Amino acid sequence: MTRPFLFGTNFKMNQTPTESARFLAELAPSLRTASETQCFMIPPFTSLPAAVAERARFDSDHARPLWIGAQNMHQAPSGAFTGEISAAMLAALNVDLVLLGHAERRTLFGETDHAIRDKTKAALAAGLRVLLCVGETADEKRDGVGPETVARQLKIAFLELDSKSAPMLQVAYEPVWSIGSNGIPATPEDIEPIAAHMRRILVDRLGAGGTSIPILYGGSVSPENAATFSAIPEIGGLFVGRAAWTVAGFNAVLTAASGGES
Ligand code: PGA
Repeated sequence: MTRPFLFGTNFKMNQTPTESARFLAELAPSLRTASETQCFMIPPFTSLPAAVAERARFDSDHARPLWIGAQNMHQAPSGAFTGEISAAMLAALNVDLVLLGHAERRTLFGETDHAIRDKTKAALAAGLRVLLCVGETADEKRDGVGPETVARQLKIAFLELDSKSAPMLQVAYEPVWSIGSNGIPATPEDIEPIAAHMRRILVDRLGAGGTSIPILYGGSVSPENAATFSAIPEIGGLFVGRAAWTVAGFNAVLTAASGGES
């Protein structure tokens, strides 16, 4: 099964509900022309209802309605977890996807591989698609253990899954050293061996289903470098931060990723 190229952005802690809805309204015409691509947008929790409502105004126009995702969730179904959000709460908002294991969650909020595994299981059980992020730190890269870190993160997250889950899974390789304003974009030489390693692990863990899980690249993606990343054979999508936080920026990176002029 071939899956469409994935392309989306995570707003992180930016954009109010009104701003997120306006972003989607302005983006809608370009989604109509990008019918080969499955686009997604991951706004803050508080913007999810507004984004879902805005999407409902135009999704029937599009061959592939945009997926709306949440940036995190808690693994428990309910309980005394002040400040947390469950998978069922996201599903009840008609959210399609949840981002799990983003580098900022792992490094700033101490999320462990095992918590991310439990979140993955809970998300799938609630019918949510999962976008799992994995990636090594700069120190791990320097010390030559990047592949081990990525393998550990991926193997633990998908430990108890089987092939049936594969259509709901997508994985982003986002080296920590490549993310944010101090990040350095990875090169094809960095990405190709790790993506091949990830593919072997996915197939080992999930059997035939593992062959079709899209592997995205993320970390300082821009209109200047998007075509280089999307041309890497094992890369099935791009996950963009800062460069796609305006509609013009989103469109410029998307156009570049599709091989067009930005
Ligand atoms: P960036 O963020 O594109 O701003 O580097 C990427 C990410 O955090 O996913």
